[in-house]
Amino acid sequence: MHDISSPRFARIVGTGSALPERSVSNAELVAELAERGIETSDDWIVERTGIRNRYLASGDETTATLGAQAGQRALDAAGRTAADVDLLIVATSTPDQIFPSTACLIQRELGAFGGAAFDVQAVCAGFVYALATADSMIRSGLARCALVIGAETFSTILDWSDRTSCVLFGDGAGAVVLVADQLPGILSTALHADGRHASILCTPGSIRKGEIVGHPFLKMDGQAVFKLAVTVLDSVAREVLDKAGMAVADLDWLIPHQANIRILQFTGRRLGIDSGRVIVTLDRHANTSAASVPLAFDVAVREGRIQSAQHVLLQGVGGGFAWGAVLLRF
Ligand code: ACO
Repeated sequence: MHDISSPRFARIVGTGSALPERSVSNAELVAELAERGIETSDDWIVERTGIRNRYLASGDETTATLGAQAGQRALDAAGRTAADVDLLIVATSTPDQIFPSTACLIQRELGAFGGAAFDVQAVCAGFVYALATADSMIRSGLARCALVIGAETFSTILDWSDRTSCVLFGDGAGAVVLVADQLPGILSTALHADGRHASILCTPGSIRKGEIVGHPFLKMDGQAVFKLAVTVLDSVAREVLDKAGMAVADLDWLIPHQANIRILQFTGRRLGIDSGRVIVTLDRHANTSAASVPLAFDVAVREGRIQSAQHVLLQGVGGGFAWGAVLLRF
């Protein structure tokens, strides 16, 4: 029988993030690409994307090491330890290995043994997929303390001779600690996908019988992605607000996936939310796929912008095509 005194909600109690050591400005990237005969410019990148800088993993930095650092910082912020974690979900499309999951590698790194650990693969929508999954597992009683991480090293799957995509991405990780609570918490979630658009944004290659089969780098039809992204970001935002019985005016902050400033501005305008309430970290970090939303969240919390009891809407969208949103009270 359901115990009515048991916690009914999942609530975020700490955030963290991590970036590679190497920061690369547009000017540095333009110079590096010029050496390879690839022509681009700071002006083009800033005007078309809003990106000014990115961090790129090097040396020993991997998806798991960045994810573990972000996870540890979120645990510290939450006043929890690895021993408290009974669920660890990692959203990534750039796992360090085919298997085991990056979640298990991070579990080993953090010393958080024994609970469930698995990866979610929904590309740039990965973090909202992972957060919605953790929310469901906590509300159903399967877990009480979840560490949810978005971590990526997209630099490892970029074709550095393709100027249309290589200037857009960066590496990094973000994390939240989610606990069972009587108080909300996560108010509503919505997840969607439409595999008919699988080819507009993909890395189709795989390893078979010891060989790479198919194109091993990211491929994107930028204009098709743009059109679909702005449509679904608008509809999914309205969907989670409706589910929670709230309106756009009730929102304190919108954190869309940090893909492109024009997508962010378009989404904000269409929803009718003031641009000052849209969190933008894309200029500093570029597009870090599944890491972009928790990274932006953590930066905004640490800068004192997002504060306790405020309403925040997180949105993810990307390859699949997959998209989703999470509405929460922080
Ligand atoms: N530097 C200089 N010129 C470039 C570069 C570059 N890095 N990349 C492309 N160009 C050129 C093209 O060759 C083209 O030249 P041409 O007119 O002589 O043929 C010209 O710029 C315009 O190219 P378009 O692809 O039409 O450029 P567009 O204005 O569409 O901008 C962009 C490209 C930024 C990718 C845009 O389509 C977009 O914002 N798409 C959304 C997708 C996105 O943000 N993806 C991120 C990952 S997906 C996700 O996270 C959801």
